[in-house]
Amino acid sequence: MRRWLTLLVAATTSLVLIALLVPLALLVRTVAVSGAVSEAESEAESVAVVVGAVDTETLRLTAEQAEHPVTVFLPGGEVIGDPAPRSAAVELASRGRSVTAAAPGGREILVAVQGAPGGTAVVRVFLDDGRLTRGVPQVWAGLAALGLALVGLGVLVGDRLARAVIRPITALAGVSHRLAAGDLSARTVPDGPPEVQAVGVALNHLAERITGLLAEERESAADLSHRLRTPLTGLRLEAESLADLEESARIEARVDALERAVTSVITEARRRGRERAECDAAAVTGARVAFWSVLAEDQSRHFTLDLVPGPLPVGVAADDLAACVDALLGNVFAHTPEGVSFSVRLEATGGGALLTVADAGPGFATPDPSQRGESGAGSTGLGLDIARRTAESAGGSLSLGASPEGGASVILFLPAVTP
Ligand SMILES: Nc1ncnc2c1ncn2[C@@H]1O[C@H](COP(=O)(O)OP(=O)(O)OP(=O)(O)O)[C@@H](O)[C@H]1O
Ligand SMILES: [Mg+2]
Repeated sequence: MRRWLTLLVAATTSLVLIALLVPLALLVRTVAVSGAVSEAESEAESVAVVVGAVDTETLRLTAEQAEHPVTVFLPGGEVIGDPAPRSAAVELASRGRSVTAAAPGGREILVAVQGAPGGTAVVRVFLDDGRLTRGVPQVWAGLAALGLALVGLGVLVGDRLARAVIRPITALAGVSHRLAAGDLSARTVPDGPPEVQAVGVALNHLAERITGLLAEERESAADLSHRLRTPLTGLRLEAESLADLEESARIEARVDALERAVTSVITEARRRGRERAECDAAAVTGARVAFWSVLAEDQSRHFTLDLVPGPLPVGVAADDLAACVDALLGNVFAHTPEGVSFSVRLEATGGGALLTVADAGPGFATPDPSQRGESGAGSTGLGLDIARRTAESAGGSLSLGASPEGGASVILFLPAVTP
């Protein structure tokens, strides 16, 4: 846009200057020519005055002393002064008519002198092209320099104006990119022309609205989760009334776990957006693998855990990372037969952590099983998508592949906390 505006100013200034300077240059030339011609005419008149009044020798001296080349054609055919051809214009003048005519290399000014002894004499003053336009090239060069200087000035002013408009627009684009990347604290200071300022105000308003809507969404997620408490209470009462005390205690423990999960969903939903997401990936992964190890033992699954010594800080909240590890390990237990082994590895990479969950099961049946809502096992089809979203929201990624044993392998890259 800046180049476009500068070009526009340059084109407009050039057109205006051409429209003014070209006629001015032609006028300068015309004035110079007519000045030179009238000067030569006066000189011819002054010589004409003495023709017939002085002798031939005096006339020759007078002609030689003139500023321009002067020729006098006497009626008898005698030519005095600067040698010159007797052109058709001279013939015309010798019939009594003073004329100005073009001649090779310039112009001849012819004055008819009637009353000379023997007929009409003709005084010829020759003006070469250089004398005709004397001083004109210099004036033209001055005008061209002035034109160029004005175009340069116009371009400079245009560029300044363009920059004044483009700077706030670039700032606006930067703020919208930050908003798009999830930084809802990004705001712009309205600047520049009124229209651009209005866009800045609108963008800030939009950012406020998005922040408000997200807060409302989180609150309604918390409210919805809260509704689960009622059926849970009913379940607890049912469990307490069971005759088998051991079974009753086991179910109560599960209900407790479920209640803790619901509480954590509520607090997590309300916490989001207020706190900076960060956790120690080594601690969270270790804790979740320890949780799943009980079930692994039940199902005779052999597993290996390769944890980098912590702390390994990543830009994801602890609950979110725990949900990711649960989704990946939950998949191993849900989509591979009992007894199939698996491995969990957490390593530090430049700029973050790499979590790999691999198993020796049948592997992924479809090329992109992380499609949200698509399950190959009649479930909700959310697990891999939740893991992918969590990683991407922190600037990381999720990649799916095959493990060395031919089973499924999921690699989660979680970037370190950005300062
Ligand atoms: N370890 C694995 N081995 C084989 N297939 C898998 C494995 N993990 C996931 N899949 C396949 O990928 C699909 C999508 O997994 P995802 O976790 O997203 O959904 P889901 O497990 O079907 O449902 P949800 O996790 O919501 O209960 C699964 O249905 C399954 O077909
Ligand atoms: Mg799953």
